[in-house]
Amino acid sequence: MKLIIRLMTAALGMALTVSCCQAPKSEGPVYLDDSQPMEARVEDALSRMTLEEKVKILHAQSKFSSAGVPRLGIPELWTTDGPHGIRPEVLWDEWDQAKWTNDSCVAFPALTCLAATWNEDMSALYGKSIGEEARYREKDVLLGPGVNIYRTPLNGRNFEYMGEDPYLASKMVVPYVQEVQKNGVAVCVKHYALNNQEARRHEYDAIVDDRALYEIYLPAFKAAVQEGGAWSIMGAYNFYKGQHACHNQYLLNDILKGEWGFDGVVISDWGGTHDTDQAITNGLDLEFGTWTNGLNSSSSNSYDTYYLADPYLERLRIGAASEDILNDKVRRVLRLIFRTAMNNDKPAGSMCSPEHDEAARQIAGEGIVLLKNDNDVLPIDLASAKKIAVIGENAIKMMTVGGGSSSLKVKHECTPLEGIKAAVGDNAEIVYERGYVGDVTGDYNGVVTGQDLSESRSEAKLIEDAVAAAKDADAVIFIGGLNKASHQDCEDSDRYHLELPYAQDKVIAALAEVNPNLTVVIVSGNAVAMPWVDKVNGVVEAWFGGSQAGNALADVLFGKVNPSGKLPFTFPVKLEDNGAHALNAYDPEDLTVEYKEGIFVGYRWADKQKVKPLFAFGHGLSYTDFSYGDAVCRKPSVKAGSDVTVSIDVTNTGDVAGKEVVQLYIGDNESALVRPVKELKGFRKIALNPGETKTVTFTIEPDMLKYFDDAKHGWVLENGKFTAYIGAASDDIRSQVEFEVK
Ligand code: GLC
Repeated sequence: MKLIIRLMTAALGMALTVSCCQAPKSEGPVYLDDSQPMEARVEDALSRMTLEEKVKILHAQSKFSSAGVPRLGIPELWTTDGPHGIRPEVLWDEWDQAKWTNDSCVAFPALTCLAATWNEDMSALYGKSIGEEARYREKDVLLGPGVNIYRTPLNGRNFEYMGEDPYLASKMVVPYVQEVQKNGVAVCVKHYALNNQEARRHEYDAIVDDRALYEIYLPAFKAAVQEGGAWSIMGAYNFYKGQHACHNQYLLNDILKGEWGFDGVVISDWGGTHDTDQAITNGLDLEFGTWTNGLNSSSSNSYDTYYLADPYLERLRIGAASEDILNDKVRRVLRLIFRTAMNNDKPAGSMCSPEHDEAARQIAGEGIVLLKNDNDVLPIDLASAKKIAVIGENAIKMMTVGGGSSSLKVKHECTPLEGIKAAVGDNAEIVYERGYVGDVTGDYNGVVTGQDLSESRSEAKLIEDAVAAAKDADAVIFIGGLNKASHQDCEDSDRYHLELPYAQDKVIAALAEVNPNLTVVIVSGNAVAMPWVDKVNGVVEAWFGGSQAGNALADVLFGKVNPSGKLPFTFPVKLEDNGAHALNAYDPEDLTVEYKEGIFVGYRWADKQKVKPLFAFGHGLSYTDFSYGDAVCRKPSVKAGSDVTVSIDVTNTGDVAGKEVVQLYIGDNESALVRPVKELKGFRKIALNPGETKTVTFTIEPDMLKYFDDAKHGWVLENGKFTAYIGAASDDIRSQVEFEVK
C-alpha cells in the first residue's frame, strides 16, 4: 500500500512540476505562437492580413527575396542558389556581386557526382551540410536540387541533375530534401518539369506522351514531394501543352497539387512568369525574377508591376479574381514562412567548417567512377613512381566559378594538381604541362577566380611539351573534359557535340603513343566521346568535384579511396546512339521538342536497340573484384499485391576492401503495352573486406512492377511473368531469376 501511495505522490509531484514549468502560452496572436499547430497559425495570420498585404507576399521584392508582412511581424523570405553551394550575395536588384567579404562557401560536388555515389547516405550528408550553410547564411529557401532527367548528352545543365533513370534520381533526391529541411531551410526542387535542354529554354514546347511523362520525367519530383516532403518547387521556363510550366494547369494544379497533394509553394523560375490570369489560375504561388514588357527591370517600381503584383490587385479589387484562389496562394506562402523564417526550432547552421570540407571530399570520392583500368594502371603506386606527369588545363582550372546560376564563390578550391601534389609530397617528382588551351576566362557575375590562364605557345608546341614531359614518366595523368564555359556544361547553352572540345583528343592520342601508363581523367557533368579509349589503359570520370575536387581525385588515383562510383547516365559511343538523337528529336533551333523516344531514355534505348554503349548506365570499376552468386527467389509465384523477395550473395574476391553497388533491374516478360527490356528497381551499396560475402536481399513491391497506362491514366499491374536481373551495371548482369504474379 505504502508503495502505491509513494508512487501516486511521485506522479502527482511530477504532474505539478511539469504543469508549473510548462512554457506559458505566449499572450500574443496565435500565428506568433510556434507551439500552435501550423494550420492554426496560418489561418490566424491570414485572417489579419489586408488584400494589399496578401498580394504583396506573392511576388519578389528584390532579386532573391519576397516580402513579409511588416505590420504583423511576419518576416520576408530569402532565397538563394544553388544546388551545389550557397551563392554569394548580390545587390538588391542585380545579378552582380554585393562584394560582401563573409559569403564564401564550401562548394559540394555537382549533383551528377552525388548521383554517381548510388549511396543515399551521401545524399543525406550532402543535404545536411549544404542545409547548414544555407541556415548559417540566414537563407529560407535553397533553389535546388535539380532532378531533370538526362535525355540528351548535350543539355548544358545535366551537371546539376541526377542522371537518366527516374528510380535512381527518386532515391537520391529524398535524403537531400529531408536533411536540408531539417535546418529550417526549404528546398525548391527544380525545374518542374521537362526542362531537359537549355536550347531555347524559355520558348520550346515539350511534346511528351503521358507514359514518358509519368514513368520517366515526373517520378523524381513526385518522390521529392511525397517522400521528401519538399516545401517548394520551381517551375520550369519551357512550355508544356502550350502553357508555360510556371503557370500550368496540368503540371501544377492537376498533378502536383491535385494528384500528389503538394501543400508547399510553387516558385517561378526567374523570368518564368508571363501572364497574370494564367499565373492566378494555373497554380503559380510566388513570382520571382520577372522582366515584364514595358518595364525596366530595376526601375524603382518594377516589383509592383509584376504579374502577381498590381495587375493582380486590380483584378481582386474589381472582383475579377477569386478570393479563394488568392487565399490558397497566401496560405502556402505563410506555411513556407512558418516552416522557415518563423521556425524557432531551427538548428544553428554552420559555414565553411572542417566537417563540410570533409563531407565534400567524401561525397566526391564516392562519386568518382573508374571507367577503365587495364593492366592495373591504377592506383598509382607511390612507392615505385618517381616521376609523375600531370597534363591538361583541367588540372589547374577552377571549376566552382561559372556554369550559370550554380556558380559559387568558395573559401578555397583544391584543384586536381594541388590535390595530387598534396598526396604525393616528396615521394615523387611531379611535372605539369598544360597540353591544350581551353577557356582562359574565370569569372561569373563578378566572381573571379583570379587565375591567370594566359598562354602563348601554339597548339603544336603545347602538345610537344606535354609529350616531352610524359615520355619518361612512371605515370601520366591527363586531366581534361569540359569546364562550365559557355556550351561546355553551362546554363542557357547546350553543347554542340559529344566530342571533347579544344585539342584534347590530339593530346591524349599523342600521350598514349609515348607512355602506356596513361590515365585520362574527365572532369565533366556530361558524357563525352572517347575516340582514343582503346589506346588508353586508365579512364576516370571525376565530375565537377567542388571545393575538395583535387583531394578527392588524388585519394582515388593513389588508392587511399577505392573507387565505388557508378555512372548515373549512359556514355554513348556516338550521339546517334542516344534515342533523342537517333530519332532526330533534338534540334536546338526547334520551338517544339517532341520526345519521340518516349520512355526509351538512356539504357532503356540501348537495350531496345541493342546498341552497345561506350560505358553503360550503372558501370563503375573497383580496385578489387566482386563475384556474384545465383539470384534466389524463394517464392517465385505470388498473388497479385504480394511482395517478392530476391536475394544474392556478393563476395569481395580481391585483396583490398571495397564497395559494390548491387543493382536490381526488372523486366516484364509479357505486357499489353511495350515496356523496356529492364528497368532499375533497386540498388544497394555494400562494403566488403577481402574474402567477405554479404547476402543482399531486395523486396519487390507490387508498385515496382506497374507501368503507366495513358489510356486509363493510371498505373497498371498486369499478372504474368517477370524477370529480376541482378548485376554490377545495366550491361553487366550477373544473375537473373524469373517470378510470376498471379
Ligand atoms: C536561373 C535558373 C534557376 C535559378 C534562378 C535564380 O535562371 O534557371 O535554376 O535558381 O534563375 O538564379
